[in-house]
Amino acid sequence: MTILEIKKEFFGKIDPLDLDLIISSAIKKPREFVLAHPEYEIPKFKIENLKLKISRRKRGEPLAHILGHKEFFSLDFKVTKNTLIPRPETEIIVEEVLKLNPKNKVVIDVGTGSGNIIISLAKKIQEKNIFFGIDISEKALRIAKQNAKRNDLDEKIKFFNGDLLLPLIKNRKLEIKNSKFIILANLPYLSKKIYGAAPKDVKNYEPKSALYSPREGLAHYEKLLKQIGLLQTIINQESKIIILEISPEQKSKLRPIIKNYLPKAKIEFQKDLAGKWRVCKIFIN
Ligand SMILES: C[S@@+](CC[C@H](N)C(=O)[O-])C[C@H]1O[C@@H](n2cnc3c(N)ncnc32)[C@H](O)[C@@H]1O
Repeated sequence: MTILEIKKEFFGKIDPLDLDLIISSAIKKPREFVLAHPEYEIPKFKIENLKLKISRRKRGEPLAHILGHKEFFSLDFKVTKNTLIPRPETEIIVEEVLKLNPKNKVVIDVGTGSGNIIISLAKKIQEKNIFFGIDISEKALRIAKQNAKRNDLDEKIKFFNGDLLLPLIKNRKLEIKNSKFIILANLPYLSKKIYGAAPKDVKNYEPKSALYSPREGLAHYEKLLKQIGLLQTIINQESKIIILEISPEQKSKLRPIIKNYLPKAKIEFQKDLAGKWRVCKIFIN
């Protein structure tokens, strides 16, 4: 079968761009080749697998799972059913940290998933910083480590398995004096209602444990802020910047939670490119 024949057979059944990308990955040639060479004869032994991938997409499986990877901040990340597929709106978190131009900082990514945020940062920032990635899912962490290796950053980023900041506290990684901390988190933040209304491909194929959080989507952030509050009084009084990805309707609900655990914090919210409140920045001096 040629590329054209495959395209004709599946025309209108899946998105044409997805079809091109699945063909491109099956024949291991760039999308430009798929567009420019409709007459290309696809090797027979690849056809069955190619059709299987197209039917997976037809059933609603995310393209990133079928291809096994997803681009984020111009880098390529392996993704599986155990990791959240990196979302474009999360790139703001990376941009916000880059604006701070960190030097000699401890940068911590809580809920690292595929490692997309911390790896993008470690790749961009040349100066000396310490990078930590944490996830409660061992399976996700395994993928994050593979992604760090893929990007030659396995020496630069240390990954820990555990609940929020606990593994760093247990391993005494936060007892660093005279150093600023940048704590980033894109933790599960969808409320029951929003998770319930999420598209089927999200609910059927992405881990609920990466998306849903009780108490209007804020239980994970509340627990993290509580940990940081305790950390601030007991272990480490150094200044900290906390950057959280949020759901737009959480702006007003999050403020009193922050003030409860970090009364002296300065709080700023920021919109994403779609004009929705997406980032919460917290400064503790
Ligand atoms: C929304 S996903 C974000 C993944 C990735 N950072 C990104 O931006 O695409 C949330 C991640 O937090 C992890 N997670 C959930 N609860 C956690 C906890 N209590 N401690 C650490 N990580 C947690 C999940 O396993 C998941 O990988």
